[in-house]
Amino acid sequence: MQIDLSSRKIFITGAGKGIGLALTHYLIQSGAQVWAHYRSLTPELKQLEEKYALLHLVQGDLANPLEVQSVFNQVTSAAGQLTGMVWNAGIFEGHPTDLSTAAWMDIWHKTMNVNLHAVGQLTHAGVQHFLAGGQGGQMIFISSRAAYRGETADFLAYAASKGAVVSLGKTVARSFGKQGITSFILAPGFTRTQMAERFIQEVGEDKVLAEIGLNELTKPEDLAPLVALALSGAMDHASGTTIDFNAASYMH
Ligand SMILES: NC(=O)c1ccc[n+]([C@@H]2O[C@H](COP(=O)([O-])OP(=O)(O)OC[C@H]3O[C@@H](n4cnc5c(N)ncnc54)[C@H](OP(=O)(O)O)[C@@H]3O)[C@@H](O)[C@H]2O)c1
Repeated sequence: MQIDLSSRKIFITGAGKGIGLALTHYLIQSGAQVWAHYRSLTPELKQLEEKYALLHLVQGDLANPLEVQSVFNQVTSAAGQLTGMVWNAGIFEGHPTDLSTAAWMDIWHKTMNVNLHAVGQLTHAGVQHFLAGGQGGQMIFISSRAAYRGETADFLAYAASKGAVVSLGKTVARSFGKQGITSFILAPGFTRTQMAERFIQEVGEDKVLAEIGLNELTKPEDLAPLVALALSGAMDHASGTTIDFNAASYMH
């Protein structure tokens, strides 16, 4: 059953590939108008834009706070009042313990800039936007199983950034619910995208499969119906919740 999002205007970050691309596709098919941010334009996103008038693209590097603001401003000037936002863009870069402090901290800062600082800045702008509109809206934070389970030794910054995103999403839910703003955190486990593929190849697919409760790894499109449901408003009374999407690999 396809969820009807025909009255909705949604802003999503990191839509060029992976989970962001799959969510964008599903949201448009559900009838939403979507403002999709990308950093690098991919043929897949370009094809969607050519096919669907409901899709509008905005480019920017979210590691740069000036570009974060510019992307947000471009989206809201074009869209008017948004009903939903999805903070999906993120990086997963390793920094092994045997690196020098400077090199290790370099990845730490890079990770925090994209995975946390940009999300914080967008959340602030997004809450102001929803409050000014007077109708509230839904905000979705794409975190990770790593926020709860922890990550492997090379990914300390990634796990810490995703843990902070969980706290941010919960606090938005507690703080602005009375003004109609609801917030949901999605915590995927391994999902077949470029981000996870390198790790799956390194560790071996059999080993990754052995760690999950289902027969196959999660695909990006598996996440889409639930995100659409949250953006429809039908889940508003579950605001603040974390939705685990890890094929029964980690329960908390
Ligand atoms: N795949 C998994 O197993 C998994 C598991 C748990 C959580 N997640 C989370 O799910 C989200 C999407 O990940 P994915 O698996 O779809 O990864 P992906 O295929 O690597 O896509 C990541 C997206 O983020 C964008 N991005 C990265 N750095 C950016 C920057 N500085 N400015 C703007 N955009 C930037 C990328 O743009 P470019 O194409 O230009 O790089 C890309 O569109 C991330 O937040 C990730 O942490 C993924």
